[in-house]
Amino acid sequence: MKDFIYAYPTKVYFGAKAAAKALPAELEKAGKTVMLAYGGGSVKRSGVYDEICGYLKEAGKEVVDFSGIMPNPTYEKVQEGAVLAREKKVDFILAVGGGSVIDCCKIVAAQAMTDKDIWEMEFKDHVFPSEFLPMGAIVTASGTGAEMNNGAVITNQDTKQKAGVLGAYASFAVLDPAYTMSLPARQVISGAFDTLSHSMETYLGSPRDVTLSDEIGEAVMRNVIRNIKVLMLDMEDWEARSELMWASAMAENGILKIGKVTDFQAHQIEHQLGAYTDCNHGQGLAVIHPVLYRHMYKDSAKQFARMAEKVWEIPAEGKSEEELALAGIEALEGFIREIGLPSTFREMGITDKSVLKKVADTCNLTAGCCKKLSREEILEILEECW
Ligand code: NZQ
Ligand code: ZN
Repeated sequence: MKDFIYAYPTKVYFGAKAAAKALPAELEKAGKTVMLAYGGGSVKRSGVYDEICGYLKEAGKEVVDFSGIMPNPTYEKVQEGAVLAREKKVDFILAVGGGSVIDCCKIVAAQAMTDKDIWEMEFKDHVFPSEFLPMGAIVTASGTGAEMNNGAVITNQDTKQKAGVLGAYASFAVLDPAYTMSLPARQVISGAFDTLSHSMETYLGSPRDVTLSDEIGEAVMRNVIRNIKVLMLDMEDWEARSELMWASAMAENGILKIGKVTDFQAHQIEHQLGAYTDCNHGQGLAVIHPVLYRHMYKDSAKQFARMAEKVWEIPAEGKSEEELALAGIEALEGFIREIGLPSTFREMGITDKSVLKKVADTCNLTAGCCKKLSREEILEILEECW
């Protein structure tokens, strides 16, 4: 187990009517001017926007709207938000949406406090922001776990990079499953698969001895698989939606990562695919995972075999470690098909095969706990995903 320091800055309000508990108390601590940030309009159609505006009005806040944050948020959009935040002297940012809105706001919160360019600061100078506008997050689409960490995945269209940038933590997060009920079924499932992916990519990191974090991770994975299956029968199942919402936060709030170095190569490949195709994150992961794992499992057969047994409940008896590991990957593949996620990039609607080479050329894999992939092998994987 690696050494660690653990503290958590985000207060979570979970459950039905969580906003009614959270907002009066939390807004009292916030300054006068609140930036209300959201995406392309789902919050207006669902009624969440009006409800939040009601709390802001009751708290006597001046509201600055920051709308149109797109899925796979761009660095340009971050800059737009930062300019607006400065111009209107925003004291607090309230992000209402899924991972994209929350991520964008984390970096707006940082960029609004400095004249330096955050992208250059982090990627060229390796200096990370330390001053932020305070922010809160109201989750309307779960899966990324963005509400409980300070990583933000932003697309820089100039450099053609989709990468993790470090920004603000939300001081509080509202997780009300009711707010996710208007989400299209396909997005519910791809979001939940993202949670499974985070847990797998953490589990397959190092050290390879089984840690408490791994055993908690096994529980999260089993829970996600079971509850996705429940949703396949009834998309509105409240308990399953609740479990998945909390699992989403659990998989990315750092608890599963305690004492570990994570792998995350599927994510890094998917992010670059996103930079070139603007694809859906969870769907991209669903295609990449099994293909990538067939390339990786022999280098970490013990961990893959344990995952097959503990998560996919495949009996170990009569199988070698590699056979068991492979059976787990087959179970993952079968599950992806069963829940209606795509198995090829073409099924995702990607039509230009020439992007694969560009993705392979620009993937900058930093983790590689199981097996560090070469550029050639990344291209091979991408072509197998086609
Ligand atoms: O923009 P609106 O109109 O709100 O529509 C959104 C969007 O089109 C819609 N939506 C959200 N809540 C809804 C709803 N539609 C109906 N009813 C609701 N209640 O859903 C669409 C997708 O939203 P988005 O926020 O993009 O989805 P998700 O939460 O999956 O976030 C994906 C982004 O998060 C990044 C991904 O790379 C991607 O950019 N990630 C962030 C992570 C983090 N910060 O820890 C980790 C992840 O691995 C991931 O990389
Ligand atoms: Zn993810």
